[in-house]
Amino acid sequence: MQKAVVAKLGDYEIRQCDREDVPSVIEVNMKTLPEHYSDYFYYEILSEFPETFLVAELHDVLVGYIMCRIEYGFSQLKRLGLARKGHVVSVAVNEEHRGKGIGTSLILASQGEMVKKSATECYLEVRVSNTQAIGLYQKLGFKIEGRLEAYYRDGEGALVMAAKIGKRDWMSSFQA
Ligand code: ACO
Ligand code: ZN
Repeated sequence: MQKAVVAKLGDYEIRQCDREDVPSVIEVNMKTLPEHYSDYFYYEILSEFPETFLVAELHDVLVGYIMCRIEYGFSQLKRLGLARKGHVVSVAVNEEHRGKGIGTSLILASQGEMVKKSATECYLEVRVSNTQAIGLYQKLGFKIEGRLEAYYRDGEGALVMAAKIGKRDWMSSFQA
């Protein structure tokens, strides 16, 4: 059974990931990112956080995904405060489908689900050289909150980027 569509973008549909989608998600990840995970990792995130694991599909072909975790811990935005945070673990769109707003829709739709789970901020790590993704995150209101040296296996550093999320923020950015 197919999961409910959470957003539509032209002919593209954004919907919750299903267990049967995971092999296609892994395929997109292999093609688009140097960070790969064990199959178990995907299924584990899907079973723990199904609401924020979304896929983008065009005519039944999976072309993008976002997977996230909801965490509780030190705020990325407030000094010394605690916060419930949505952590974007990985987001990717196949190259031939980029620049059409799919990445934006995946992030905004997952943030909407994070807000429903009482998260007040959203954060992620991104390679310092990944100007395309950094540009997209900045457009969505993420700010650079930190830098992790040699975060990736090949020695590259990561920027930690975070954004405040809330019902109103999400609704207004979705309409923009
Ligand atoms: N320089 C700066 N910003 C850029 C550039 C560039 N060369 N190219 C694109 N962008 C930004 C712009 O803000 C652009 O928005 P605009 O079209 O309004 O100007 C935006 O990227 C594109 O937005 P979308 O079309 O919504 O995003 P897309 O569907 O293309 O997906 C994504 C973006 C997911 C980053 C895609 O490029 C991708 O899959 N890249 C490879 C995988 C990757 O790097 N994933 C992120 C890793 S970090 C993490 O997962 C937490
Ligand atoms: Zn992370």
